[in-house]
Amino acid sequence: MSNTFSQQRVAIVGGTSGIGLAVAQRVVQQGGQVHVGGRSPQRLSAALEQLGPAATGATVDSSDADSLTRFFSPLPAIDHLFTPGASYSVAPFGSEDVAQVESPFRQKFWPQYWAVHHALAKLSPSGSVVLMSGGAGARPLPGVASYAACNSAIEGLGRALAIDLAPRRVNTVSPGTIDSPLWRGRPAAAREAAYAGFAAISTLGRVGTVEEVADAVVFLMGNGFMSGTTLFADGGYTLR
Ligand SMILES: NC(=O)c1ccc[n+]([C@@H]2O[C@H](COP(=O)([O-])OP(=O)(O)OC[C@H]3O[C@@H](n4cnc5c(N)ncnc54)[C@H](OP(=O)(O)O)[C@@H]3O)[C@@H](O)[C@H]2O)c1
Repeated sequence: MSNTFSQQRVAIVGGTSGIGLAVAQRVVQQGGQVHVGGRSPQRLSAALEQLGPAATGATVDSSDADSLTRFFSPLPAIDHLFTPGASYSVAPFGSEDVAQVESPFRQKFWPQYWAVHHALAKLSPSGSVVLMSGGAGARPLPGVASYAACNSAIEGLGRALAIDLAPRRVNTVSPGTIDSPLWRGRPAAAREAAYAGFAAISTLGRVGTVEEVADAVVFLMGNGFMSGTTLFADGGYTLR
């Protein structure tokens, strides 16, 4: 077991499931402490039980500024922040459903922007932030205009914050389709169609695992010369 995170604390908004929980597990395995959050108290307590004594947590809704304040205020210094917590819907361009069209920005972009804002006072000058985008930003499929734009905006935010928050490092991870509870909670037919569709248009011919994305996130946190980049953990999706 390496000690990459020895004496370090990592805060994860959206760390109670999927990619965020896999990152939390890596941090604990590598000697660090994690503070995880999500909206559901049940998911939070299950995650804390799984992570063991090196983990603390609190419920948080990252789309609510007061909730973010409550999440970060009791924490001592943070070495790294990861912000995968998001719950959005997607609508095609031309839809009149304003809430759905704006949902990716309201539920994925702004929550990460404000999570960094609320964490900043606690974030070590030698620390880092990893933002979460997604493959639709670099390679949109039809019918996801505002979601694609949201992911590109997150990558742009990562580059801008790498300048504004230096010497802290800021990077973004952009996964392809990943087999996670997010997909497992959807109807089987839709999930299988999405997985097969992704496999057909990525160079590796399969969806990814949460552990594979977690490894990319841990690399971005641990490598002291990475800043302002987007790392595509996507099985070659953006190349095809
Ligand atoms: N899986 C993929 O194929 C894929 C591909 C590209 C990008 N991504 C991105 O990866 C991120 C995580 O995906 P995942 O597959 O790991 O999903 P997941 O297993 O559903 O995990 C999402 C985590 O975020 C939390 N969360 C959701 N909304 C939140 C909110 N408003 N405030 C705080 N926490 C919130 C969830 O807990 P609660 O529900 O209890 O709040 C959970 O801990 C998302 O941003 C997604 O866009 C995923």
